[in-house]
Amino acid sequence: MKRNSTIFSNKKLVIANWKMNPGTMTEAKRMLSDIKKGLKGSRGVEVVIAPPFPFIYPLEKLASRSKIKFAAQDVFWEPKGSFTGEVSPKQVKEAGASYVIVGHSERRKMGETNQIISKKIMNASKEGLGVILCVGEDKRDPGGKYLSGLQSEIKESLSGISGGRLSTVIIAYEPRWAIGKSAAEAINADELHAMSIFIRKVLISNYGKGAGASVPIIYGGSAEPSNAKELSFDGINGFLVGHASLIPAQFLNIVSAVKS
Ligand code: PGA
Repeated sequence: MKRNSTIFSNKKLVIANWKMNPGTMTEAKRMLSDIKKGLKGSRGVEVVIAPPFPFIYPLEKLASRSKIKFAAQDVFWEPKGSFTGEVSPKQVKEAGASYVIVGHSERRKMGETNQIISKKIMNASKEGLGVILCVGEDKRDPGGKYLSGLQSEIKESLSGISGGRLSTVIIAYEPRWAIGKSAAEAINADELHAMSIFIRKVLISNYGKGAGASVPIIYGGSAEPSNAKELSFDGINGFLVGHASLIPAQFLNIVSAVKS
């Protein structure tokens, strides 16, 4: 799929979601350095690392001569003020992030609603950040109600985003039943293909064929070296990788699988 009208390159994306790992800056630097070495000379895939907030700035400095980009794992919607513990879109941008992950299922579990997510997306997008919006069903029911749930998640989370702004958004389809498991328990290629078509239809019905057809859709939920190749087909623009991104060799294998 051509993605000329987005702010993103036409490359596939592989995003490392480190979550609240590793425990120390020393380890984080070592992981980055292993990834950097492994990527030397490799082209064709955009690699993004989403470390914990305090690691973004030092890692971005270390990575400066590589093509690796950085993402924050969350963001607040206000630009500044008395919001203890929160971080604004501008602040994550200043720290060196080009992207933010919004609406991850682990944050939704802590009470984040589509309305909150919508405000975060609007303000991060206005700041010029690429927004990785996570959506996905908890479980599947034989009647297919999970599809309407997923549709509402997409529509409500994007409610403040106009067709013009949609070019800053990436959809990360992450079925929650597949997160933190193993490749054997993840989605299979046929199911993912069907879901990518469903999500594309929702986007096109909301935004029309131009903007709706251009949004990158990536997959997350136990993406590992062993399933990355079969899940990397035309309608899927890359992966959001959790546990496998904590082992640089595994992460690099996923990047290679996406490239080939
Ligand atoms: P996982 O995590 O790869 O460990 O399933 C993905 C995610 O939570 O983004």
